[in-house]
Amino acid sequence: MHTAFDLSFAHTEGRWARPGSWVGAPFPDVRIYQEIARTAERAGVDLLFFGDGSGIPDTWRGSMDAAVEWGIQWPRHDMGPVVASMAAVTEHIGFGLTYSSTFAHPFTVARLLNSLDHVTGGRLAFNVVASARGADAANYGFAERMDHDERYDRMSEFMAVCRALWASVPAEAIVADRSTGRYADAALVHPIDHVGTHFRVKGPLASAPSPQGWPVLVQAGNSPKGIATSAEFVELVFGFGGSVAGQQRHRAALDAALLGAGRDPSAVGILWATQAIVGRSAREAAERRDEVAAFWHPEAVGAFLSHNVGFDFSTLPERFTLDELVAEITRVNGAQGGFVGALVGELGGSASLTRDELFEHGWRHATGLDHTLCGTASEVADALEENFAATGSRGGYMFASPLAAPSGYGDLSELLVPELRRRGALAPRYAGRTLRENLSS
Ligand SMILES: Cc1cc2nc3c(=O)[nH]c(=O)nc-3n(C[C@H](O)[C@H](O)[C@H](O)COP(=O)(O)O)c2cc1C
Repeated sequence: MHTAFDLSFAHTEGRWARPGSWVGAPFPDVRIYQEIARTAERAGVDLLFFGDGSGIPDTWRGSMDAAVEWGIQWPRHDMGPVVASMAAVTEHIGFGLTYSSTFAHPFTVARLLNSLDHVTGGRLAFNVVASARGADAANYGFAERMDHDERYDRMSEFMAVCRALWASVPAEAIVADRSTGRYADAALVHPIDHVGTHFRVKGPLASAPSPQGWPVLVQAGNSPKGIATSAEFVELVFGFGGSVAGQQRHRAALDAALLGAGRDPSAVGILWATQAIVGRSAREAAERRDEVAAFWHPEAVGAFLSHNVGFDFSTLPERFTLDELVAEITRVNGAQGGFVGALVGELGGSASLTRDELFEHGWRHATGLDHTLCGTASEVADALEENFAATGSRGGYMFASPLAAPSGYGDLSELLVPELRRRGALAPRYAGRTLRENLSS
C-alpha cells in the first residue's frame, strides 16, 4: 500500500481558520507546506499532491460571489514553485502537480516538468486533467467548454507530444566530457516533427534529460472515455470511486482498458481519494468532525457542487430522476463521474429525488462527511486494509484532511501512517532513488 496526501485544498473551505491553522502565516506561505513535507517524509508518505484549477467557481447561480465570500476552492496558486521549496527541505518524498491538457500547451508543460524533475532530484509526478470546469475555460479564451470526448482526444494527443519530447533528448545523448568540452551526441537528439489535430510541435525539448526521464504519469478522469485515454500512458491513477462497489467498477474498467492497450494491469495502482480524520481517541476524532460540519453555509455547498460537476444545481426542478439529472449534466458537458456518478451507483439512475433531498446528499458530499473515515488510527487502518483488499490491492490512498493544515496532515503523518507501517501494510519506506522506483516497490 502506498500513501499520498492531497494538498489541493489544504487552505480552502474554511480550513484556513480552523484550530491548528497557522495564525500570522496564511496561505500560501511556503513554511506551512515545508512543515507538512518534513512531517510526511518522517512518516514515509510517498507523494504530496496538488490538483489544480484556475477559475473561481462561478457555476452556482452563474456568479462567483458565494465562492469568493466563503473561500470555496479559491484562492489557488500555481504550486510548482511551492513544490521546489518543499523539495529543498526533503530528500525522498515525491510531489505531484496537475496541469490541464485542455488549456495548456504540451511544450510548455513538458519543459516545466522536466525542470521540476531536476529540481526535485527525480521525485515528480504529473497529473494530467481534462478539466470539466467552465470557470477555468473562460480564462483560456473558451466561451464554451470543449465537448467531453474531444477534451480526451486532445489529452491523448497532448500526452503523445509530451512523451515524444521527453524522449527526444535521451540520457545516453549527454556526453559531458570535461576534457574535450563535447556536451552531447547530436545523432541522439532529434526533432519530433509532430503535426496533429490540436498541436504542431517541432522539438526536440530544449532541456537536458531529467533524473526520471519523465515524471510519473497520473490521471484522474473516471468516465469510460477518460479511463480508455488514461490506459495509453498512465502509471498511477487518482481515483474517486465513491463506494467500494464504485471503486471495484473503476478498477475493473481500468484493468480492461489496460489489457486492451496491451499493458499489464498489475503495474498500475489506483490511489483512492480518501478523506480521513484521526484522533488520539474516537471522541477527539468525532469532535474534529463536528468542527468541519459547523462551517458549511448552504451557499458554499451550492458553489462547491456546481463547480465540481460543471452544472448549476440552483436550476434543478422540484423533483427529477437521477437519469434526468445525468442527461442534463451531459448536455452541458459536465462531469459524469464524481458526486453524481457516485449517487447513481448508490441509488440507481431511476431513483427520484426532490431538490432538498439532492442538497442533503450534496451537503454530505461537499463536507466530505459522507465519505470521511473518522476514528482512532487503529479504526481507520482497519477500514483501509479491508478496502485495499476489496479493491485489488494495487495502489493505496490519497488522503485529504478536512481539518486545518498543517495540523490535520500532521495527525495523519504521526498517527495513521505509523499505524499502517506497524501492521506491515505499507510498501517499504523509500526503497528506491526516484519516485517511480519508490512507487513500484
Ligand atoms: C479524483 C479526481 C481528481 C481530479 N482532480 C482534478 C483537478 O485537480 N483539476 C481539474 O481540472 N480536474 C480534476 N478532475 C476532473 C477530471 O480531470 C475530469 O475533467 C472530470 O473528472 C471529468 O471527466 P470524467 O467524465 O472522465 O470523469 C479530477 C477528477 C477526479 C475523479
